[in-house]
Amino acid sequence: MNKILDYMEDAIRKAFADCGYEEKYAKVVLSNRPDLCEYQCNGAMAAAKAYKKKPIDIASAVAEKLDTQSEKSVFSEVQAVMPGFINLKLSPAFLAEYMMGMAAGEKLGIEEAKKPETIIVDYGGANVAKPLHVGHLRAAIIGESIKRMGRFLGHHVIGDVHLGDWGLQMGLIIEELRDRQPDLVYFDESYTGEYPEEPPFTIGELEEIYPAASAKSKEDPAFLARAHEATLKLQKGYPPFRAIWRHIMHVSVADLKKNYANLNVEFDLWKGESDAEPYIEDMIQMLIDKGLAYESQGALVVDVAQETDSKEIPPCLIRKSDGASLYATSDLATIVEREQDFHPDRYIYVVDKRQGMHFEQVFRVAKKAGIVKEDTPMIFLGFGTMNGKDGKPFKTREGGVMRLENLIRDIDSAVLSRIMENRTMKQEEAEETAAKVGLAALKYGDLSNQAAKDYVFDVDRFISFEGNTGPYILYTIVRIKSILAKYREQGGSEEGTKAILPPVSGTEKGLMLQLARYNEAVENAFAETAPHKICQYVYELSNAFNSFYHETKILAEEDEGRRESYIGLITLTRRVLEACIELLGFEAPERM
Ligand code: ARG
Repeated sequence: MNKILDYMEDAIRKAFADCGYEEKYAKVVLSNRPDLCEYQCNGAMAAAKAYKKKPIDIASAVAEKLDTQSEKSVFSEVQAVMPGFINLKLSPAFLAEYMMGMAAGEKLGIEEAKKPETIIVDYGGANVAKPLHVGHLRAAIIGESIKRMGRFLGHHVIGDVHLGDWGLQMGLIIEELRDRQPDLVYFDESYTGEYPEEPPFTIGELEEIYPAASAKSKEDPAFLARAHEATLKLQKGYPPFRAIWRHIMHVSVADLKKNYANLNVEFDLWKGESDAEPYIEDMIQMLIDKGLAYESQGALVVDVAQETDSKEIPPCLIRKSDGASLYATSDLATIVEREQDFHPDRYIYVVDKRQGMHFEQVFRVAKKAGIVKEDTPMIFLGFGTMNGKDGKPFKTREGGVMRLENLIRDIDSAVLSRIMENRTMKQEEAEETAAKVGLAALKYGDLSNQAAKDYVFDVDRFISFEGNTGPYILYTIVRIKSILAKYREQGGSEEGTKAILPPVSGTEKGLMLQLARYNEAVENAFAETAPHKICQYVYELSNAFNSFYHETKILAEEDEGRRESYIGLITLTRRVLEACIELLGFEAPERM
């Protein structure tokens, strides 16, 4: 379905051309004076310079040409005002027609991409054997939303969790395990039999082993050296350590899956850094053969600086002097694998913004070496830190790293006590509702901020039913659901698309104007990898609905045609709101 802006611009382009001016001046934007008009065209200003005329003369001539009278007119009012703006109001009949068009489409007026792309979204990034903590929360929430948007627009989107499963934490756990249970067969070098299927630890134990080992390594250099050696041995394929590694993966991934599922986050690929290992050797050889990688102080590096750089971009380290590979090595080799498996048209990495330099280097090597085609977009969506009210990175009350499941539990119980204040719900329903509302509070609290910005995690604000919050959006949806339920109780039926009539009040038109922006809002948000733009839109739409609701008798409207039209309009509003929160990764309860 054409965007509402396209309809307006088509008409204005024609008017500019009819007046003998170039069509490129016909750009339409949202009005910055909503008291005067709904949209505006500022093109006469620029045209005035090119044609050496007064802007107001051009604006007036163009306005004159625009149809506001016929049945098919897009505009109901067009006004040229000083110094040369063209103020626009949409025709109520045209708008109503547009609403009907939206309601008739499964995707509410959104068109799928004409050239669907294969897109890798690399998000999650949890580190195996360490509990999922708030540092990984943003990646999961933002990445999931981007994945959903891309898919909704018809792209082939592949979400990869890209686990940190190959680093020093593995060596630390292996050596800690040796200290605790030296008799395990994995540590008996003369052992040649099969390794046990049962892991030598539970998830609970594993989560205790890692922090203990990590603390020990800070105090005991000999232990740290052992852990490094064990890590290297693991990476070289030493069978007993591979066996332990498989246990760690097995136990840990099951737990991670459960945690991500609680967040409504789902990955297509559960790959990790370890999967890149088989590609590393050939890739490094290729970098050497192409003359890109060279030795510098024993290490292997690739220069990536460019003349146009405004800040220094140091060479990318590919291999350390002891032969160990690095974070960049595994990310590059992962790209080799992804190219081989999927030929992506686009890459999107959702990672802490402090890793920006790393990705800049990796992307440059990938392009320079021809691993990725020069024109394939590689997007680094770096997110800021989630801070506590003290402005410092979010911690538990005791000052430790907050585990995700505890954070979710805290939010849910805060929502639950708010719901139970009115005590109209049974405990069980209240708990289910609290889980839904809590997730919305958490996700919306995050997504409504521009990703790159740090934000303050403020439970009280996030769970408020008023203001720019997830619960406010849900509340709006629940409000519509309850009107529709009442309508059904009174014998009404929602089946079939209702005739939506031209609006008769300002708030009704305001609601339609917001609804009409839907396709543009979603396409824009995805093109700019900016979920906060969906939040902005859904907030404005909720406000528009609530204004309409407060001043309109919907079910009590006596004129049947008008009442049915209202039902059609609020049904459409509900569908658009629900589609938006689906893109944000949460859902609405029946009641709140
Ligand atoms: N595991 C990493 C971390 O915790 C994040 C991984 C991000 N993705 C990537 N392809 N490097 O910092």
